Amino acid sequence: MTNRPQLPPEIARRRTFAIISHPDAGKTTLTEKFLLYGGAIQMAGQVRAKGEARRTRSDFMKMEQDRGISVSASAMSFDFDGHRFNLVDTPGHSDFSEDTYRTLTAVDAAIMVIDGAKGVESQTRKLFEVCRLRDLPILTFCNKMDRESRDTFEIIDEIQENLAIDVAPASWPIGVGREFIGCYDMLGDRLELMDRADRNKVAQSISMKGLDDPRLADHVPADLLAKLREEVEMARELLPTFDQRSFLEGHMTPIWFGSAINSFGVQELMQGISTYGPPPQPQNSAEREISPDENTVTGFVFKVQANMDPKHRDRVAFVRLASGHFERGMKMVHVRTKKPMAVSNPVLFLAADRELAEEAWAGDIIGIPNHGQLRIGDALTEGETLRFTGIPSFAPELLQTVRATDPMKAKHLEKALMQFAEEGAAKVFKPAIGSGFIVGVVGALQFEVLASRIELEYGIPVRFEGSQFTSARWVSGAKSVVDAFAETNKAHLAHDHDGDLVYLTRLQWDIDRIGRDHPDLRLTATKEMM
Ligand code: G4P
Repeated sequence: MTNRPQLPPEIARRRTFAIISHPDAGKTTLTEKFLLYGGAIQMAGQVRAKGEARRTRSDFMKMEQDRGISVSASAMSFDFDGHRFNLVDTPGHSDFSEDTYRTLTAVDAAIMVIDGAKGVESQTRKLFEVCRLRDLPILTFCNKMDRESRDTFEIIDEIQENLAIDVAPASWPIGVGREFIGCYDMLGDRLELMDRADRNKVAQSISMKGLDDPRLADHVPADLLAKLREEVEMARELLPTFDQRSFLEGHMTPIWFGSAINSFGVQELMQGISTYGPPPQPQNSAEREISPDENTVTGFVFKVQANMDPKHRDRVAFVRLASGHFERGMKMVHVRTKKPMAVSNPVLFLAADRELAEEAWAGDIIGIPNHGQLRIGDALTEGETLRFTGIPSFAPELLQTVRATDPMKAKHLEKALMQFAEEGAAKVFKPAIGSGFIVGVVGALQFEVLASRIELEYGIPVRFEGSQFTSARWVSGAKSVVDAFAETNKAHLAHDHDGDLVYLTRLQWDIDRIGRDHPDLRLTATKEMM
């Protein structure tokens, strides 16, 4: 990853990123402060308040609340410091979630939020590994410094050791817990003082001439100042200094210390994103690399959300623009079906409200309402045939049968299931013999989420039950080979929502045997998203 100074200014000023964290580390609070400083909301508390209002409207949301799953818009855009920030929300399910992983294919960088008392937690580690697969640059925010937290060196060491990444302090905390008064900005040589009395007040920021500046003593008690000087000296000896190139290549993370709830350290973090980037990066397709500054517009769907508005059965496909300058009403080509598609009502997500997007640039995320044509992984271009790569599909690891409690509703259930399958929320298999459906997910919580959504959004109470199968494999190969195989294995076969053939079993032994008996047949645990 490199900064590309030749990018047109409108593209170069874009910053598209996600926040990764373990539940409770402060992602929502930080998001809210971003929106506040980005001018997208007027008052702290609105994101949460909006969340609460929505939650009371539906039990699904209530369930999210009970389980500590965060609810917010999927993509939010705001301006800061001359930059356009696009913050893409990663759903915070404590379970493994495919959605989260796909979201990370649409961003150029991630902010890792950790709790200063807890350090690197399990969910953070998982998400970090996904970022690393794509060499995403990561900025770290160590939150809750207003509370008792771990020793600064210990936190940094833990990140370095646990995640095998160089950590360069961008700021250094002064005092801990109740004694925490602020940070020394190591990149900008400034003293940042937290205001404990007013949570929404921006820190006082005083320019310094290095750590020997006598004015430091005017603001920092002598014992804390001595400790600060000693620690920073040690840090400069022992820890790497910030190197933008290494950061952009994903080998180094700058770390800021702060307290989101006290609005402390947040602006410095935002300035870090503005200053160090990265701007929109090239995207990979099977055919070629797509550069953001190309003249024609291209983009790919990384998320589909159905039933955002219960009154309308619409779906919104979230598209990451990979290149060009998009204007409302443009005629695009939907590559998978080769059909033209006039994008007349795209939406940008400014804070929690939708707004018509008159224009958008490479790096932006737009929402395209549609009736199901757009699926995860689909490409939109001005005519070129492109297939974006790198959008993962996951092997379903847990299988269950699902039935409507009321057998008369079976047909409706099929429709609901197909919709969730298209959304990428689950894999749905219709067995070749018999009735009912088998649903495959990667985390057990997804069954509960599905059951609750099917009931709420379609009014169909359902029951999930253990299935006789535990593994699913997509079958491919020459037609004659597949037909011959299908003829003798009917009891194990099903079709997914695209009509593709799937082999179901509970024995690895079966899969191995097929490999030996049918060398020309391919069994795969995942299916390409296209
Ligand atoms: P999440 O989205 O990552 O799950 O975290 P969220 O922002 O909801 O924050 C989790 C809890 O941590 C919240 O408390 C929040 O107020 C608190 N918190 C966030 N930032 C800071 C910080 O800088 N310092 C301290 N001391 N606490 C912080 P809660 O009790 O769960 O909710 P609430 O009643 O405060 O809303």
